Amino acid sequence: MSNTTHHTTQPKPGQPAQPATHVKRAWAEPFKIKMVELLKVTTREERVAALQEAGYNTFLLKSDDVYIDLLTDSGTNAMSDVQWAGMMLGDEAYAGSRNYYNLEQNVQKYYGYKHLIPTHQGRGAEHLISRILIKPGDFVPGNMYFTTTRLHQELAGGTFVDVIVDEAHSSENLNPFKGNVDLKKVEALIAKVGAKKIPYISVAVTVNMAGGQPVSMQNLRDVRALCKKHGIRVILDATRAMENAYFIKVRESGYADKSIPEILHEMCSYSDGATMSGKKDLLVNIGGFLAINEWDVFEEARNLVVVYEGLHTYGGLAGRDMEAMSRGIVEACDADHLRARIGQVEYVGERLLQADIPIVKPVGGHAIFLDAKKFLPHLKQTDFPAQALAAELYLESGIRAMERGIVSAGRNKETGDHYYPALELVRLTFPRRVYTQAHCDVLVESVIEVFQNRQKIKGLKMVYEPKYLRFFQAKFEPIA
Ligand code: F0G
Repeated sequence: MSNTTHHTTQPKPGQPAQPATHVKRAWAEPFKIKMVELLKVTTREERVAALQEAGYNTFLLKSDDVYIDLLTDSGTNAMSDVQWAGMMLGDEAYAGSRNYYNLEQNVQKYYGYKHLIPTHQGRGAEHLISRILIKPGDFVPGNMYFTTTRLHQELAGGTFVDVIVDEAHSSENLNPFKGNVDLKKVEALIAKVGAKKIPYISVAVTVNMAGGQPVSMQNLRDVRALCKKHGIRVILDATRAMENAYFIKVRESGYADKSIPEILHEMCSYSDGATMSGKKDLLVNIGGFLAINEWDVFEEARNLVVVYEGLHTYGGLAGRDMEAMSRGIVEACDADHLRARIGQVEYVGERLLQADIPIVKPVGGHAIFLDAKKFLPHLKQTDFPAQALAAELYLESGIRAMERGIVSAGRNKETGDHYYPALELVRLTFPRRVYTQAHCDVLVESVIEVFQNRQKIKGLKMVYEPKYLRFFQAKFEPIA
């Protein structure tokens, strides 16, 4: 690790970045490496062939052809020796596995919810809650869409309504809590459709598609108060809630001296339940859950989980996976872990900003987002600039990123036209505890190299489009 003070706290609007008050080397990792996974370094010719075969879609590349894999932070984390030891204590009984009870205990202790339904991953929980709470014709407000979350809401007959603050749609705005819900937008929806048609508001902490931007505690409190007045439930998407808690600790006044578990507990106390992809925050490779306070909703979920996931005490997971996730909750709540995790992302962000690379600011929790509209101003949004940029980065260096723009946004189910999101982004997502600072430096050099040659990058045309979540499997060709 370099011993300069890379870590700075994020600037408040109108204020310069402040050096962190804690120690030098603030983001150095609180772990050492015990086992390594060897990587293949490919040639440019190999990458050209691999990319063509993948239809210019980084999701369709073989992982063996990737050098630094920043596709996602989902399920790509390195588990600790303590988690691996827990895997050996897997109780693979069909019913009543001890690992389920361990997980239940930690969900109750750290998140504070009463009832737990394990699911194979986050979307399993989204499926259950959408089916249980949404009736055809309902509206579900949320602080920006997430792909799988919105799709499950739509499949249940609901309509997603974006109620995030306007600042979230700008890559330049420095609001430290760009994930916040705009209460006026929620009030306007209630006035328009009536509270009875709004079964719940879905609040993501942090907001993935806005750049990993957090929600403030004050906003969660205000959302709760408004929804309570109208009898509307609050369901958190707690996928990256620990990272949100860390941002509250370092950015929101009154929380600097609170522990991450205290902050997490308070965040969840303003909600009725949560859907959770354990594959992110919780430092595992698979797993998720639905947590809920209401008995009736729990009972219904316990019924449905048997149909779609597995018995209610395993929900599609092996006992050992529940144990790893349960132990992951404890490790994920560690402030030193979060400081290193987010510090690594901030380190890359600062280096890219120094090189004038257009990225979403402030830097969020799990990823750096390149602003493809600013990066490739010569391309129209229908030329899929972010898809093209992700492809070019792979060609340059074997680094795999992900499109988060018009391809991910999909089509309006009514009109059939593309959604045109304001943010056309390439996401460089950081798996937890996986890559070193030297990997980060290679990444920065590669992005700078691509930026210097950006004029040569051509747009793409879509030659195959799947019906659902098209970004996963769509294929493209370069525009001649
Ligand atoms: N909610 C958020 C905010 C997510 O980021 C994800 C997954 C999910 C829900 C769904 O969880 O994958 O376990 O079913 N995001 C991954 C990503 C896929 O790469 O951002 P899942």
